[in-house]
This record gives sequence, C-alpha cells and structure tokens, in this order.
Amino acid sequence: MIILGIETSCDETAVALYSGETGLIGHDIHSQVALHAQYGGVVPELASRDHIKLLLPLLSKLLGETNTTIPDIDCIAYTKGPGLAGALLVGASLANSLSISMKIPCIGIHHLEGHLLSPFLSHPNLEMPFLALLVSGGHTQIVQVNEVGNYRILGDTLDDAAGEAFDKTAKLLGLNYPGGAELSLLAEHGIPKYDLPRPMLSHKNLNFSFSGLKTAALLLTKKHGHSGKNNADIAASFQKAITDVLTRKTFRALEQTGIKSLVVAGGVSANNHLRHQINVVAKRKSIKVHFPPLEFCTDNAAMIAYAGYRRWANGSAKPDNGSFSVKPRWPLESMNY
Ligand code: KG4
Ligand code: ZN
Repeated sequence: MIILGIETSCDETAVALYSGETGLIGHDIHSQVALHAQYGGVVPELASRDHIKLLLPLLSKLLGETNTTIPDIDCIAYTKGPGLAGALLVGASLANSLSISMKIPCIGIHHLEGHLLSPFLSHPNLEMPFLALLVSGGHTQIVQVNEVGNYRILGDTLDDAAGEAFDKTAKLLGLNYPGGAELSLLAEHGIPKYDLPRPMLSHKNLNFSFSGLKTAALLLTKKHGHSGKNNADIAASFQKAITDVLTRKTFRALEQTGIKSLVVAGGVSANNHLRHQINVVAKRKSIKVHFPPLEFCTDNAAMIAYAGYRRWANGSAKPDNGSFSVKPRWPLESMNY
C-alpha cells in the first residue's frame, strides 16, 4: 500500500510517499524560514498563505520525481495537530479533498507521534520500548514510547521549549531567526566561562523550564556588553547550561524507567554539543542512542506518512470519512488506546 503524507503544521510545507512494502519512496520539504526571518519569528497568516501557494506544486514535484500518480495512492495521512490552525487547515483540506475525490481513506495524525516514530525511517528494526527526548522549537518532552499508540510523557517544559530558548537567546545576541544553529556556531568560538543557572535540575521531577536561562543570558549582555568575544562566551555558556539540563534529566528518566534505548529527535538534536554530551554519557551507561538523520529530525512529511502507515497496519487509524477538523492543541496522551 502507498501512503501520501502531508505536513503543514508550522513553517515547513512537506509531502512524502511511503510504501508499506518497500519503505520511503520519496519526500520533499519547502522551508519558510527565509519568509519569516525578517519578522524574527513565524507569522501564522503568512505561513498559511505560503502553504496554500506551495503545497500542490510540491506534491506534483514529488509525484514526478517518484514516477507515481494520484491513483497509485491508497491512503492519505496528514498532520491534524498540534500546530497553527490556519496552516493545519491547508494540509487537512487537500488531504480530505483528495480522499473524497479518489475514494481513499484519510487519517489525521498527531505531529508529535510523527516525530516519535521518525527513527523507524532510518532504523526499521528499532525495538520498543524506548525513551525519546523530543527537542524542537515548539516542544521539549521526555516520552516513553511503549508501542505505537502507547506513549507516556515523563517530562515537559513549563515555559519555553529548548529551541525557543536557543532562538530567543540568539536574538538577543544579534543573530538571525531561527538562531539555534547560528548560536551553536558562535559558541564554538567562545569559552563557557559564565555560570548560568541549570533550571529545575534540583527538582526530582523530569520537567524543564528555560525562560530563566534566557533572562540570565540577557543580564550578562547588559553587564558585560555585546563584543564579539563576549557574545561567543555567552553563547557557549548558554549552550553548556541547556545541554547539561537536557542530558541530566534524560539520563535520570532512563535510570528511573530502566529503559536502555534512547532516541533524540527535533531540530535541537542537530546541536553538536548536545549530541556529543549525550553520546559520552550513553557510552558510560551502556545506553543505545539513535539520532535520526537531520532530514527526519526537523519537520517533514515522511514521519507523518510513516505514522499513518503504522496506525493503519495496527488497526487503530480512524479515517475522517468526509468530515474533518484540525486540533491546534492536542495532548499526545489522548492518542493512546
Ligand atoms: O523540529 P524543528 O525543525 O521545528 C519545530 O519547531 O517543530 O525545530 C526547530 C528548532 C529551532 O528553534 C532551531 O533554532 C533549533 O530547532 N535548532 C537548533 C539547531 N538547529 C536547529 N538549536 C540548536 N542547535 C542547532 N544546531
Ligand atoms: Zn515538529
């Protein structure tokens, strides 16, 4: 069976084709980063308009590249939430229109379930349960993945997500949106000489809070100025502090659950310092770590098509049947069955 995946929850327009027999056929992503950069963050209305403009051409391109036609598609999986309402509606509308006209089923997928199952795209034999550290611009969660449709959130952020904290700190260091990657490049030239707080580390629970860290970085720029060297030192100190917290809480969760397998996904998992630190500790503690390839760490439709396939295969998919809604807010655990 061939599943078309559609992702439009935020600022990436993405489509993918996944075959239940042979795996990923192909996928395409259009990033809107350049569109939003001048505003310093995602502008929801512009995101929706860009999805409207680009989704159909992107699908035509993918069909051409993969030598596939619409009648070859057996099922459609689209991101139903969480995300920006207008942006989600673009993907949901195309998915349902195709579904009705082609008389094929259409399934709304939880975006985070897509991220959690994304490691299977590159590691098809990955065993469950595993623990996932999901670190993106919108989410910071530690999730126990027991099986498809059985997720337990062990830790969550109380305020900013890790990527959001990177982006806000990058902005106050004068870097462009989204600044996470640029901040990490700047940090390579700095020394982590400032002792920034490690928020929530003394708390026994597995939750995070990053807004204070960003404020502490702001105070440092006010106190010591914005020189190139000082900015690099602040970037290195910030990166070290946030990495320490993410790493220590993640390994605390592994210890508490006794799980020996870890997946790190989401845009922030591209961070070299975080990857290095997690790899070092994992080796010491004999934990297996998987970082999905970057194209599947950040938002993509391959993970949505794959989640649709797994839901279809285990019989837990609920097709829309011509009436649909999107869910801008949608707790992951409501997906459990
Ligand atoms: O998963 P993602 O592509 O989109 C969602 O938010 O869903 O994550 C984007 C986030 C941004 O905040 C970006 O600054 C951050 O990931 N990011 C990084 C790095 N690359 C991307 N943060 C730190 N270091 C990086 N190398
Ligand atoms: Zn995402």
